[in-house]
Amino acid sequence: MRVLLLLVFLSDYTVDGLYQKSLNWNNHPNGEYKDSTAKSDFGNIRGWKNNRAYISGGSPRITLEKNALSGACGMIANMDLPSGTAYELDFDLKFHSQFDWSRGGKVGFGFGLGNGNTGCNPATDGNGGSLRIMWYNDNSNRVYLKPYVYYKDMPTNCGDDFGVSYPSSGSLRKGAWYKIHLYVKSNTGSDKNGHVQVKINGAAVLDRAIRWTTNDSKRQINRLMFHSFRGGSQTYWQSTTDGYIYYDNLQIKQIA
Ligand SMILES: *[C@@H]1O[C@H](CO)[C@@H](O)[C@H](O)[C@H]1NC(C)=O
Repeated sequence: MRVLLLLVFLSDYTVDGLYQKSLNWNNHPNGEYKDSTAKSDFGNIRGWKNNRAYISGGSPRITLEKNALSGACGMIANMDLPSGTAYELDFDLKFHSQFDWSRGGKVGFGFGLGNGNTGCNPATDGNGGSLRIMWYNDNSNRVYLKPYVYYKDMPTNCGDDFGVSYPSSGSLRKGAWYKIHLYVKSNTGSDKNGHVQVKINGAAVLDRAIRWTTNDSKRQINRLMFHSFRGGSQTYWQSTTDGYIYYDNLQIKQIA
């Protein structure tokens, strides 16, 4: 019976009570990636935008609209996860060969804990946190990926990158796939015994202990984020052209 269920619901299942999801979009035809399809793929996903989601050659492609930022530019979709204290995920991402880096933005899948703080709403009250990835153009000919983290001890109002980047020298390449791995473990109580890890193409970009929260009722990982947009809030984060980001091979695994 268990084997049959796994075959039927291959993209979304539990193993010993722990949540897992695996999506490669290979069986999706080219065309608009509708909200209804996204809901059957992801579950209770909110914030989907039909007109900015497209399946292209077995990969979802998100459009980042010109002359816009944040939700007006791209897509900010969130999905509830079964609450857990340790999760990991993997996905592939690719910037279109003509992508305009502009200043940067949020890219791909991430996790929220407790209140799931984002948007320069600092997590210093100890009630939430998040881990996402940004691409960033430092305006001195380097464009890179970096962690973007909200947590109890974050030093400023907006997400912390811990001063690390990928690649550690040189720039990202357009039209190339990158493999992202994220791992989040909740801390307990007010201890700094949580963990955050970001690996890109197998290299450990960030791997450290962290205090995400101090409120025991807010410590769990409860949200999958799928965010693709430019910004930043100042107009210099915008682009004058539409941009496309591709994703593939999403795997989410609850560890505890
Ligand atoms: C901790 O979370 C609970 C549940 O949401 C909330 O009622 C309480 O105010 C929070 N405590 C603090 C100190 O923020």
